[in-house]
Amino acid sequence: MGKKSAGGGNLPEGSLSTGEERARLVREMFDRIAGRYELLNLIMTAGLNRVWNRGAVRATALRPGGRALDLACGAGALTRDLAKKVGPNGYVLGMDFSAEMLKAAKTRPLPNVEYRLGDATNLEGVESGSFDAATIAYGARNIPNLDTLFAEMARVTRPGGRVVCLEIARPKGRLSATFYGIWFDRVVPWLGAKVSGDAWAYSYLPESVKAFVAPDELAEIMRRNGLQNVTWRPNAGGIVTLHVGTKPG
Ligand SMILES: C[S@@+](CC[C@H](N)C(=O)[O-])C[C@H]1O[C@@H](n2cnc3c(N)ncnc32)[C@H](O)[C@@H]1O
Repeated sequence: MGKKSAGGGNLPEGSLSTGEERARLVREMFDRIAGRYELLNLIMTAGLNRVWNRGAVRATALRPGGRALDLACGAGALTRDLAKKVGPNGYVLGMDFSAEMLKAAKTRPLPNVEYRLGDATNLEGVESGSFDAATIAYGARNIPNLDTLFAEMARVTRPGGRVVCLEIARPKGRLSATFYGIWFDRVVPWLGAKVSGDAWAYSYLPESVKAFVAPDELAEIMRRNGLQNVTWRPNAGGIVTLHVGTKPG
């Protein structure tokens, strides 16, 4: 049996693992849900996404006047937090491959933020070493080629700068795993379908988490792509993980 697709048809089994087709489906899905994305995020995390984003900003070690690249920036939640951190003399570039998500981001413009349409795995045109930090929040799990992603993030970060990845994970503890099972596998798809009108998008969410690499493996991918001192820590009992690496000086 295939999975229900956005258009009501069936997706062939395993389609989430194929590169270009998966990228197209993901992009179209985010285009469709862009208008409701941030509201749903806030509801589904009970506002904790703001706390997790603040942790990601701290992990960048950015200072006022710094430069950050926020990949898969979506409607700009983390981008805006980074912009606040670097202040008026700093600069943040938010990049996403969904035009509709960027349109949503641009409804809340900031003078030190620029948004650009682009693929996180191909940062052609972004100068090597030109950012103090590169971030990705809830984007990595949508990207099939994690080696290319982190190699590019490491390339555009200056020596001594940070690469930060915030992502949803499957918790190990019994209590968090039970909560996760009820919340992500049942409530999220139901609530997401109701509020966004897109059942497939919010069934894809738990599926993409299940298909994603384990936190230790993600750390290893970061290391083998040019980052050092890679560490990760769980948030909210392991439902979200924060990975941080440093570009060697
Ligand atoms: C779950 S949203 C996260 C948005 C935002 N970072 C946040 O924290 O709210 C994932 C985003 O990743 C983007 N995305 C997925 N794959 C991408 C890729 N290869 N290049 C650029 N953006 C991508 C999607 O368009 C979507 O906006």
